[in-house]
Amino acid sequence: MISQTLREARMYEEVMESGIGEKERPAFHLAARVGWMNDPNGFSYYNGEYHLFYQYHPYDLNWGPMHWGHAASSDLLHWHHLPAALAPDTSYDRDGCFSGSAIVLPDGRHMLLYTGVMKTSQPNGSTKDIQTQCVAIGDGVNYEKYSGNPVLSARNLPEGGSPSDFRDPKIWEEPDGTYRCVVGNCDAHKDGRILLYRSKDGLCWEYETTLAVNQDRFGKMWECPDFFELDGKQVLLTSPQDMLPKGFEYHNGNGTLCLIGRLEKETYQFCEERNQSVDYGIDFYAPQTVAALDGRRIMIGWMQNWDTCNFRGMGLPWYGQMSLPRELQIKEGRLIQKPIRELENLRTGKVQFENVLVTDTIWLDGIKGRLIDMEMTIRPEAGERLFRKFAVYFAQDERYQTSVSFRPYESIVKIDRKQSGSRRAIIHQRRSLVKSSGGELKLRLILDRFSAEVFVNDGEQVLSAVIYTDQLADGISFFADGKARMDVVKYDLRL
Ligand code: FRU
Repeated sequence: MISQTLREARMYEEVMESGIGEKERPAFHLAARVGWMNDPNGFSYYNGEYHLFYQYHPYDLNWGPMHWGHAASSDLLHWHHLPAALAPDTSYDRDGCFSGSAIVLPDGRHMLLYTGVMKTSQPNGSTKDIQTQCVAIGDGVNYEKYSGNPVLSARNLPEGGSPSDFRDPKIWEEPDGTYRCVVGNCDAHKDGRILLYRSKDGLCWEYETTLAVNQDRFGKMWECPDFFELDGKQVLLTSPQDMLPKGFEYHNGNGTLCLIGRLEKETYQFCEERNQSVDYGIDFYAPQTVAALDGRRIMIGWMQNWDTCNFRGMGLPWYGQMSLPRELQIKEGRLIQKPIRELENLRTGKVQFENVLVTDTIWLDGIKGRLIDMEMTIRPEAGERLFRKFAVYFAQDERYQTSVSFRPYESIVKIDRKQSGSRRAIIHQRRSLVKSSGGELKLRLILDRFSAEVFVNDGEQVLSAVIYTDQLADGISFFADGKARMDVVKYDLRL
């Protein structure tokens, strides 16, 4: 039942994993079991646990023939690895099992819907991808590819649809028990769009409509769509390739896009109202969500970006990590993201200071660490001129540091890992516009061994970045140009 290719991958990952020390991995962010990881896939709740699969090339620290890696967790923070779930071992997916999603069937089986990639030679000697959507059904460990694969192929494309850019199905169940999925596609002008399909059983699919079209606004191809209702609105997430920058909202290259709007249920027409980035930091791409049993919509993204893959930790046996799971909400027409509340269960060793005057660089007793959850509330000093800049430095020693700074006159928060130890000439800083009334701002900084995630004003913006600074650099300091007041509470995170 299990192919030779999958068996080999499973043996390889098991052997290699045993040589990886606990401290060589992030503590509570999922990283590849061994080798390379990209997009989160198949994020679902199955048999009492959350399952998260991922784009996986176990044999190398670089992208290669895509397998699906597999992990599970009951709180989305303590992860345990499971054997690789899919390998590129059939004619229609021989060049890769690309991104996809999962659903629980009425009979209790777990169904994966993913993109199979097959390269075909062209008359001019080049190759062209044929991307189709395929099914595998299993029990939470072993999955069997459906004999009728592919279930969606070129013949299910609307006019002009490119069979080479047709990928990343996200499936869900409707209240009437039927299924829908959204798939990323390019039209005849190589412009991104999101297609919607319907099915009674998850196996036999029909094209329903084109949900959203790019019209040359946000990059080119739209990858990894997700589509769900949230707080009375309809949300379409997608990750466009080849973006052009727009102010501080969108940046060059691969980015993330959140379209918020309404859905006309009868016709399945999505009417866009607002758009925004999902993450304003450096490393975040291809997010996928799950509806938790308690009703929360939880999102995880690949805490990495195709454009920054040259920035690596020296000697680490894995590449690529997932972001912290985030609880989503819509407030005043915007996407709000908060760290999942389960993180609070890991908090220990509270250190708190109130009303601290920051006028230059200061250090506070007990405030340091590389596995921390720290909240800062910043405000101007009453009766004084507004400060020009506030900053927190972390992962700091005499040589290295990463910072988050806030300039109230410009309403800008910046993450900067230039001094984190990187020896590569790639993007190390990114800025975001924030809401700040008269210099007031809330920051929550979550550090794991190899990352920093900054939640601004209770989740109005998030800035994520990976860092590979030596773990001994655990200093934290605060700085103000002018006079700023700060309340700070810091917890260590212990698993
Ligand atoms: C996004 C992506 C997907 C594709 C996968 C391949 O990061 O390019 O569109 O399915 O990665 O690994």
